[in-house]
Amino acid sequence: MQKILDLISEEVMQAFGAAGYDAGLGRVTLSNRPDLCEYQCNGAMAGAKKYHKAPLMIAQDVAGKLENSRVFTEVSAVAPGFLNMKVSETFVKDYLRGMRDSEKFGLQMPETAKKIIIDYGGPNVAKPLHVGHLRSAIIGESIKRICRYAGHDVTGDIHMGDWGLQMGLIITELQKRSPKLVYFDDAYEGEYPEEAPFTISELEEIYPTASAKSKTDEAYKADAMEATYKLQSGVRGYRALWDHIMRVSIEDLKRNYENLNVEFDLWKGESDVHDIIPGMVEDMKKGGYAYESDGALVVDVKEETDTREVPPCMILKSDGASLYNTTDLATIMDRMAQYHPDKMIYLTDKRQELYFEQVFRCARKTGLVNTDTELVHIGFGTMNGKDGKPFKTREGGVMRLENLICEINEEMARKIRENAETKGYEIDEAEADQTARIVGLAAIKYGDLSNQASKDYIFDLDRFTSFEGDTGPYILYTIVRIKSILGKYVEQGGKLTDIVIEEAVNDSEKSLMLELAKFNAMMEAACEEIAPHRICAYIYDLANAFNRFYHETKILTEEDEQKKAGWIALLMLTRDILETCIDLLGFSAPDRM
Ligand code: ARG
Repeated sequence: MQKILDLISEEVMQAFGAAGYDAGLGRVTLSNRPDLCEYQCNGAMAGAKKYHKAPLMIAQDVAGKLENSRVFTEVSAVAPGFLNMKVSETFVKDYLRGMRDSEKFGLQMPETAKKIIIDYGGPNVAKPLHVGHLRSAIIGESIKRICRYAGHDVTGDIHMGDWGLQMGLIITELQKRSPKLVYFDDAYEGEYPEEAPFTISELEEIYPTASAKSKTDEAYKADAMEATYKLQSGVRGYRALWDHIMRVSIEDLKRNYENLNVEFDLWKGESDVHDIIPGMVEDMKKGGYAYESDGALVVDVKEETDTREVPPCMILKSDGASLYNTTDLATIMDRMAQYHPDKMIYLTDKRQELYFEQVFRCARKTGLVNTDTELVHIGFGTMNGKDGKPFKTREGGVMRLENLICEINEEMARKIRENAETKGYEIDEAEADQTARIVGLAAIKYGDLSNQASKDYIFDLDRFTSFEGDTGPYILYTIVRIKSILGKYVEQGGKLTDIVIEEAVNDSEKSLMLELAKFNAMMEAACEEIAPHRICAYIYDLANAFNRFYHETKILTEEDEQKKAGWIALLMLTRDILETCIDLLGFSAPDRM
């Protein structure tokens, strides 16, 4: 479907043309004086010079041509030359009926779908997930869903950190603790056990221990580097241990991401490109791009127009080891070969911005991607505590994701019980906890996504979990309210099928309808700008518009059945659009709360 603003603009453009002016002047925007009108056009002001005419006269000419328009009920030319417009109830009703009958509420699909890979999550295997990884998962998941909904072919890749020193550290610590393990016996030629010699909780304790030791103990660190090297060069026992670490960790990661309603299509990692690195490096040397500098192998990526220093991209360290860079470049090469993406989107902390600039330039320069392949890094800001400093636990440590979620869920459960008490209904513990998990997730995700990704934001438990204001729970509360009205309507004997949206009978109803009509324009912008916060802003406005309508309208006691059914149809569309939007943000609504 065409966007409503475009339809309205077309009407006004035609009127400009009919009045003898340049039709291009007829672009319409939302009114910035909603108290006076719904839409406005400033074209007459722009035309004044060209036509040597007072803008008000031009506006009057155009208004004259719109007198019998079926789109508007009111068009007024006001000084100094604005056109103020109100659209007709019939036009809006027809538009919403059209949305209702169209796939995806009339959102236009792209002519050619793009193949997009989204690289997000990026957990490091065997290291606990922390708040830093939360944003990548939340924002990436939403972007994936938005682009997919908008009609693109999207693949989400978790890109695990599974090949670095942390693996060597774990292996080293395991060896110190149990040197007799068969994995460390060089002479062993048999099959290795199926069962891992550790559990996830042991693994989670082993890594920090090893990491701490390596910071004070040089010899220990050297052992860990040696173990990393042995692993990467394919020593059998080390690979077998690594397999165990991977299996145990991935199982745990899957559980964690499932709780977050985050789902990856690909579970690839740095290790997956290990074997193609030598070939890539060789090509970079042969192509004359990579050269030796202080023993290391680098590719220059600075450009004349740079206003800051962009250091060379290091491909191999002086000891020949590969780096974070190297695996990212090889991953780009691998993705191009396997999936032929038109676009790759990366989600990390914005502190990696320069890093990605180097990697992208290097990939372009060395021909790893096509000239038209888009490489986009979305760097997000830090989640801060109320003190404005990076979020920490009460004890001052790095907050683990699981604990953070627990904290939110507890607060949510408390509010849900409190709400049930004031409303006077029974809610059992299990239901309260279950609902708290659903609403808690909305609180975290909405709290995050409603900010522009690049901005830092303050994690405010109290505000995020509030049922009022610009929060996830407020949106869910609105959806639950709609569901409850629909439920009661059915209880009264009403049917939810074969009912249609009618013309608005009052201001608040019309405002709600106009909000709904903005859906496709908003979605297009959210996808184009890769901006989930657009959806949040939209559903907040929509929820407000609905609640105003709800407070001003006695829906269920209305005696005119057709009118009532029309409202119910409007509620259903509101619910469906809200639920679609929250799904794109990565959360869902409970049946009651
Ligand atoms: N594992 C990395 C980290 O924890 C994030 C990976 C991001 N993706 C990438 N392709 N580099 O910082």
